[in-house]
Amino acid sequence: MARLERLGLALTPAAAYDALLPHAAVAVIDVLRATTTIVAALDAGALAVVPAQEAGDAIAVRARLGRAGMLLGGERDAERIAGFDLDNSPTSYTSAMVAGKTIAFTTTNGTKALYRAVQGGAYAVFCGALVNRTAVALALERSGVRHAVLLCAGTSGNVALEDFLGAGAIADALLLRNPGIELDDASRAAALLFRASEARLSDAVASGEHAQTLAAKGYATDILIASQLDVSETVPVFRDGEITAV
Ligand code: MLT
Repeated sequence: MARLERLGLALTPAAAYDALLPHAAVAVIDVLRATTTIVAALDAGALAVVPAQEAGDAIAVRARLGRAGMLLGGERDAERIAGFDLDNSPTSYTSAMVAGKTIAFTTTNGTKALYRAVQGGAYAVFCGALVNRTAVALALERSGVRHAVLLCAGTSGNVALEDFLGAGAIADALLLRNPGIELDDASRAAALLFRASEARLSDAVASGEHAQTLAAKGYATDILIASQLDVSETVPVFRDGEITAV
């Protein structure tokens, strides 16, 4: 099995240039909130999360799969979509709500970033966040390829501070285990920022633009939840159109 040799980072899905993704193990990172919420859903016992790019696609997924107890989840402008069962807050994905269920899920940036990774030719696609960063680092390391990419979802095409921190947290965990790994400048910068921020991670996350939008909409708790480091060992993997726990 090949050993992981190189780590790259794309600050936004559009920055993931074509040569970066093919045959790479990719961690898609949307700390606020899509990938944090996907981890929460699987930890609460959801069978699978089926990402969809648009709300209409999620509704079509539910009709196509026709599984008993399927739910619709996600957001637009950070709020629950009309007619959907769940929003994009990790607090909504309780066992009572999602255990044993499949969730068709669409968010503004996170689910699109997952499709960018697949369409770019990734070998494996994982959902990374602060809450599961060591588990995701191990999954990247064990994926059997030479090249891994941290793909930040960003916010509407712009860099998101919390995704860069999440990427840095994964880069940091990889570096601790493999000091010889070759980092590009973006992943090295992310690791440096994470190390400088680790002692006050929730403050760093909360200082970002999207965090401030979420706080203004009443989702301050989500910022604290998403800022927790390594509280889950779940590694969501996006394969054959569905996200399940490895
Ligand atoms: C996204 O995918 O854009 C985010 O998860 C938005 C949000 O925080 O709800």
